[in-house]
Amino acid sequence: MRNPIIAGNWKMHMTIAEAETFINDIKEGIKGTDVEVVLCAPFTLLKDMKLAAEGTDIKIGAQNMHFEEKGAYTGEISVLHLKEIGAEYVIIGHSERRQYFAETDESVNKKLLKAIEHGIMPILCVGETLEEREAGSTKEKVKLQVEKAFAGVAPESAGEVVVAYEPIWAIGTGRSATSSDANEVIEYIRSIIEGLYSSEVSEKVRIQYGGSVNPGNVEQIMNEADIDGALVGGASLEPSSFLELVNF
Ligand code: 13P
Repeated sequence: MRNPIIAGNWKMHMTIAEAETFINDIKEGIKGTDVEVVLCAPFTLLKDMKLAAEGTDIKIGAQNMHFEEKGAYTGEISVLHLKEIGAEYVIIGHSERRQYFAETDESVNKKLLKAIEHGIMPILCVGETLEEREAGSTKEKVKLQVEKAFAGVAPESAGEVVVAYEPIWAIGTGRSATSSDANEVIEYIRSIIEGLYSSEVSEKVRIQYGGSVNPGNVEQIMNEADIDGALVGGASLEPSSFLELVNF
């Protein structure tokens, strides 16, 4: 049985004070849930969030990292920095990073390997553009992304990776994929992982859906057999809305 995981991706939003208030506001509301709760925030917020989340089950995550541990990479953040402040997750290969910051399947793979090496759990994002969906090449696209991302990942680590299927056309558009369409692609992603490893690994990997998830559609999405969670942007920015997602 896979444990559901609801993760907020705050993108370039929120201040330290707002993040602390947010955590205080959701503390009570997440007590007793078996849903894993993760907040992925801008780097400068993470340490204070970790402190604010002490004594709760809230996990803290970053939204990116470099694939080298240290070196002359001005402006970058390494896995060691994330470890030092107690981050537990890191989003890797978000489509916004692929689109605006020249992230490639190769850099995604290197980051994934580095995060795993240091015990930070990657949330690996994959997904197709609208043109690719309309051309019928969704599965081809995600297959390539998944295969390249997992290259060199050992079977014992592969099961720990969280994958987020985020169709690019559904991100921030208010136009979510239907839950059955999302489930179809996610089931397919699981079959790719089975092909790369084994059914034992593929049954363990948690696969989220992301793209315009909100309190109104989360239950239907989470009811799908292969969908184990959600990676949420806009609807994760308000405590009340986020709580509705966690308590779907
Ligand atoms: P929205 O939930 O705002 O569509 O964003 C999805 C996303 O990109 C999460 O990583």
